Amino acid sequence: MRDRAFVFGAGTSSYQIEGATDADGRLPSIWDTFCVTPGKVLRGETGEGACDHYRRWEQDVDLLASLGVDAYRFSIAWPRVMRADGTPNPVGIDFYRRLTDRLAERGIRAFVTLYHWDLPQHLEDRGGWLNRDMAYRFADYADLMSRALAGKVSAWATHNEPWCAAYLGYGNGHHAPGHHNTRWGVQAMHHLLLGHGLALPALRANDPQAQAGIVVNVGPGYPASESPADQHAVALYDAYQNGWVLDPLLEGRYPEALWQHWPGCEPLVLAGDMETIAQPIDYLGLNFYSRAVLQAQGEQGFEWVHRPEVERTTMDWEVYPQGLQDILEAFQRRYPNLPPIYITENGMSSADAVDGGQVDDVQRQSYLKRHFAACSRAMDHGVDVRGYFIWSLLDNFEWAYGYERRFGIVHVDFETQVRTPKRSALAYAEFLRERAKGIA
Ligand code: FCB
Repeated sequence: MRDRAFVFGAGTSSYQIEGATDADGRLPSIWDTFCVTPGKVLRGETGEGACDHYRRWEQDVDLLASLGVDAYRFSIAWPRVMRADGTPNPVGIDFYRRLTDRLAERGIRAFVTLYHWDLPQHLEDRGGWLNRDMAYRFADYADLMSRALAGKVSAWATHNEPWCAAYLGYGNGHHAPGHHNTRWGVQAMHHLLLGHGLALPALRANDPQAQAGIVVNVGPGYPASESPADQHAVALYDAYQNGWVLDPLLEGRYPEALWQHWPGCEPLVLAGDMETIAQPIDYLGLNFYSRAVLQAQGEQGFEWVHRPEVERTTMDWEVYPQGLQDILEAFQRRYPNLPPIYITENGMSSADAVDGGQVDDVQRQSYLKRHFAACSRAMDHGVDVRGYFIWSLLDNFEWAYGYERRFGIVHVDFETQVRTPKRSALAYAEFLRERAKGIA
């Protein structure tokens, strides 16, 4: 029964695949700036070419259709669709109209993310997410796009991974715009979450039959030992990694443990903000990749324990499928208001190469199978998971790691732009064909 409604998909994001960074009036984003700042991105690579999806999108939709996915998750590039004065850029908007129309023709549902990190640079020049006004500008952008694409979208996500946008962007500087200040990270997070809350009413008013939600990266922590100190370290880590985003969204408050870990770093919160942030959502998207094994560092800190013996990916992330079941069940216990869940990203990077026309990504096939099985076990235990999206459809620009880390189920030769479905893509297509027979 549940198979019928369950959504299988694959995902991408605008900056990581589109390329064509100055086509048709697209403005520079913080990632364009970051990429040309020496030392920020491996080998100095940029999103300028990426997968050239802006020009090859029809071929990429054909690819999705050939896989047989139910849904495609992608993001809109804010700097393509809005001019610096806040007026719409019709040519940029039209790109996403054509894309969503073609997906609909092929029977593929559109899961659309508004903010997958490509903030227009002119807004960063006004303080970016440190400036409270950004939350209001984001709501304007959500209003514009939900009017433009009304009726064409199955699910809207306000943000992708506010944790990364806030912490990596403003807290430790590993991502654009590259600031390195914990208090800034905390304040940027608050404004990102506020922007989410301010955008929801526009999404609901303009596109009432679409689901409205948000996508959050999560990861379980496990203690390196049974010692109370290591267990406390895990609680702190959990507040920093998961609770920092989920507690405000689902309970309207920041976790206390976060301020033990970062004393004196509480954000400036105005009256009514937490209510705005904690409005009900139709679904919660969770991105899952790995776990952390932790030990105490001082009284209110934690550090990762590196265990060389475990299975890893080329990101050096541990492969631990059980973590997905554990975290889903933990959230189910913890949050009485937990909305229906979509696994909006799950996947791995490996050193894939085309050999005789084929890419034999054995580890990825096994990774995906084991994670989906873990997700299924959580569903058997009562967690309401409605769908699962592989990250990613295509090898793409993996942020600070450039093009070296390949997450796609489809290989991309970045010189020729030739796409080659890897064995994992062929296996996914086969699985989806079998499922279609089963529910026909
Ligand atoms: C997530 C991002 C996505 C991709 C994967 C590997 O944090 O949402 O864009 O980079 O990690």
